[in-house]
Amino acid sequence: MKRIGILTSGGDAPGMNAAVRAVARTAMANGIEVFGIRYGFAGLVAGDIFPMTSDSVANILTRGGTFLYTARYPEFAQEEGQLRGIEQLKKHGIEALVVIGGDGSYHGALALTKRGFNSIGLPGTIDNDIPFTDLTIGFDTACTTAADAIDKIRDTASSHQRVFVINVMGRDCGDIAMRVGVASGADAIVVPEKPYSIEAIANKLKKSFANGKDHGIVIVAEGVMSSDDFLKELLKYGDFDARTEVLGHMQRGGEPTVSDRVLASKMGSYAVKLLMEGKGGLAVGIEDNHLCTHDIVDLFDSHHVGDYSLLAMNDDLSR
Ligand code: F6P
Repeated sequence: MKRIGILTSGGDAPGMNAAVRAVARTAMANGIEVFGIRYGFAGLVAGDIFPMTSDSVANILTRGGTFLYTARYPEFAQEEGQLRGIEQLKKHGIEALVVIGGDGSYHGALALTKRGFNSIGLPGTIDNDIPFTDLTIGFDTACTTAADAIDKIRDTASSHQRVFVINVMGRDCGDIAMRVGVASGADAIVVPEKPYSIEAIANKLKKSFANGKDHGIVIVAEGVMSSDDFLKELLKYGDFDARTEVLGHMQRGGEPTVSDRVLASKMGSYAVKLLMEGKGGLAVGIEDNHLCTHDIVDLFDSHHVGDYSLLAMNDDLSR
């Protein structure tokens, strides 16, 4: 194999740059030329493709976002988009592709593999919602950023003896909420995957205040409901002085943590080795601290399972 392409797709995630760098440098170290594709599958179809050198990926290891840019491009599900993408790959002599992104990106990678272009998918999303991997690139950074914001919110909550209901990202997945909730000592964590009682949460908060606690923090995953709607419900069960926050896209930005940089580097390097072995249609993951692969097609029949034991544990810890 002489030439590979690389793109980032879907929502950006901190560590995507580190993964691109790892793919590029590993390929170059093995005599393979690398072409960067801007704006994900949209850029592939439009032919926004450029040759990369070692310098192209200098000084990006520590940068958030994706210097290749990204886009959500559902049109790539259609045959027309896929055929145009393949035309562009052929035009540039690209033989295989590494795709870094979330669920939609895997559909694109699989479609290309089925059409004869070996593609490997790396899990790049803050949501940690990809099956067959304990961690996705960007998750640790997003949790660290959110926990840092919540630490600050707690200062003001304590000063006013307020309750804060805080929405964190994650789409339909509660992993960010659970990890951030534990890390920030939240009184309650509410995730879409598990039942919850707003009345029980209100009672817990009342008891905490009665016991002398000077603030309340409730983390609500965005897949449950908005923090405003949650607060409306909460106020039916208690007369709290309360505010809401939506942490939003700040969770996607910023320098990747050391964990994300290392995870992205390992996965990027591994992806190139897989392509060199002639493999494609695979999703790279990390399970029990070991890199692994699964057929992308199997991902679509599976669901990510979070560590829901964190919910009960946190309930005990935050009394
Ligand atoms: O998938 C990452 C994510 O940040 C989700 O947590 C969130 O629901 C969504 O993307 C937001 O998408 P957009 O940036 O397109 O508004």
